[in-house]
Amino acid sequence: MILKKIEQLLQEINALTADNAGQIEELRIKYLSKKGAINALMADFRDVPAEQKKEVGMKINELKTAAFAKVNALKEQFEAGNNESNHLDLTRTPYPVRLGTRHPLTIVKNEIINIFGRMGFSLAEGPEVEDDLHVFTKLNFAADHPARDMQDTFFVETNENVVRNIILRTHTSSVQARVMEKTQPPIRVICPGRVYRNEAISARAHCFFHQIEGLYIDKNVSFTDLKQVLLTFAREMFGADTKIRLRPSYFPFTEPSAEMDISCNICGGKGCAFCKHTGWVEILGCGMVDPNVLESCGIDSSVYTGYAFGLGVERITNLKYQVSDLRMFSENDVRFLDEFKSAN
Ligand code: PHE
Repeated sequence: MILKKIEQLLQEINALTADNAGQIEELRIKYLSKKGAINALMADFRDVPAEQKKEVGMKINELKTAAFAKVNALKEQFEAGNNESNHLDLTRTPYPVRLGTRHPLTIVKNEIINIFGRMGFSLAEGPEVEDDLHVFTKLNFAADHPARDMQDTFFVETNENVVRNIILRTHTSSVQARVMEKTQPPIRVICPGRVYRNEAISARAHCFFHQIEGLYIDKNVSFTDLKQVLLTFAREMFGADTKIRLRPSYFPFTEPSAEMDISCNICGGKGCAFCKHTGWVEILGCGMVDPNVLESCGIDSSVYTGYAFGLGVERITNLKYQVSDLRMFSENDVRFLDEFKSAN
């Protein structure tokens, strides 16, 4: 008789469900409190014949354990469900915190700024949307110079007519002009920034890239000063045994002008695909500031001389990190950026 009751209760308890904390508490009271169903069995227990007491006692204990377990399980279930649905803390910091990385071009730009900073150059910046005056005219570009052609320069268009005076700067040399306009020598600045040229995008060319311009104007500045500063830069950037070579070149705003190569950092000058098997890689253009430029920016060219240089940040980054495709710099692929974690 009592065994049957125990069996029934056990089945009942195993099938229990509850929707909220109140119901769980009701069930606990119904089965497990002093006046609950399990304690009520004790009245019947007194009538159990002595030889069965052991067996029945064990069954009652099992029932009690099962009831406790069930009530606890319901509580846990309810709390877990409750947390997921009602108590999600959307403001909590998701761990582990994923740190971002600096962009490789930023890492290299900062390194270049630091090197020139130690040589006494301060920073100057200018606008990316520029006028013809600062990008070309003040820099001694003839009115019919091909660089003004639509092939190279992005002109800012209005709805109907093309405003040819407003352009995206094609080089950071425009910042030279702006600095000289505002400041009398001595001037010693570097000007990092993005520049734009109307080129088809490929692995080796892009319609925007980054340059760092250098400008030094004072009395008695000579080409030797320029060469020494560039050699120091190359050695600091690429190692003490780096060699440089200057090749004569032409820029409207410098005279004489040169392009500078450094010994290929990738093959150590032996020749590889990157340096097209020459052992040398071009990294910048430079020269003595043309007196016409000084005069057009309000600096007396009979008193002052100076040098300027403009280096390509992508090229230098490639030499350091061998990025094979220029497009990777602007795609923001996290897998690419993650590779620069240790360089930060
Ligand atoms: N502005 C030139 C270019 O974009 C580089 C340069 C800068 C050359 C300063 C000489 C002096 O190619």
